[in-house]
Amino acid sequence: MHNIVKFDELNSTNTYVKNHALTLQDKTVVTAIRQTNGRGRFDRKWDSMDGGLYFTLCLKPAKTVFLSNLTQVMSLAVCKTLNNFGAQAYIKWPNDVHVNKQKICGILSEAILNDGEFYALALGAGVNVGQKDLTKVGQPAVSLKMLGINISKEDVLDSILSVFFELYNKVLTCGFTAVREDYIKLFPFMGSAVALGAGYDVKGIIKDINSQGQLVLEDENKKEHIVLSGEIL
Ligand code: BTN
Repeated sequence: MHNIVKFDELNSTNTYVKNHALTLQDKTVVTAIRQTNGRGRFDRKWDSMDGGLYFTLCLKPAKTVFLSNLTQVMSLAVCKTLNNFGAQAYIKWPNDVHVNKQKICGILSEAILNDGEFYALALGAGVNVGQKDLTKVGQPAVSLKMLGINISKEDVLDSILSVFFELYNKVLTCGFTAVREDYIKLFPFMGSAVALGAGYDVKGIIKDINSQGQLVLEDENKKEHIVLSGEIL
């Protein structure tokens, strides 16, 4: 069973985990029905009205070498779960989950330090489950409900956590290679021309996702770029 701490309202489940990491047990899951200050990547806001699923894991892994891949593992767990419930979801590297060019899940991971040393990871996800209308969130977005899939947030969370923790130990031991094949199957951008943004602004063709989960992109001058983080625009 998962150790889930439930709130009706928080400013942000990630912020809660960051502020309480010292007292939260490893693998605790913090959920909120709504967030008043939901946060996204690159200092963006994450609209968090009732109906969405908002949760953050407090992870205290013994090894930190593959930490950066855990957001990708979460996107894989979310994507597999949503597809098991009938969505046709795919991963937009590194860790967004989309259906038909509309965002259905975003993931934010934040390292928590204690005395200057890594102590825990707040790994948070916002999944659009029961919202009826997402026209005001500032980007094309969709929920399971809007796709005609009526499923409870509890069932979605339960499934995500089961898939995530099944993969978690494998990745902590073997790295991204443990999930690379599964990840690539849900990544439909291989061979596509894309533009990257958010820190690494380059255009090119996606050649691969390498054994470390990095994007391998070839620009118009045939120069290869290995990109650690950013986003496909
Ligand atoms: C993104 O796509 O920019 C990431 C969005 C992450 C949102 C989730 S909702 C639960 C957790 N708490 C937050 O404040 N953010 C994450």
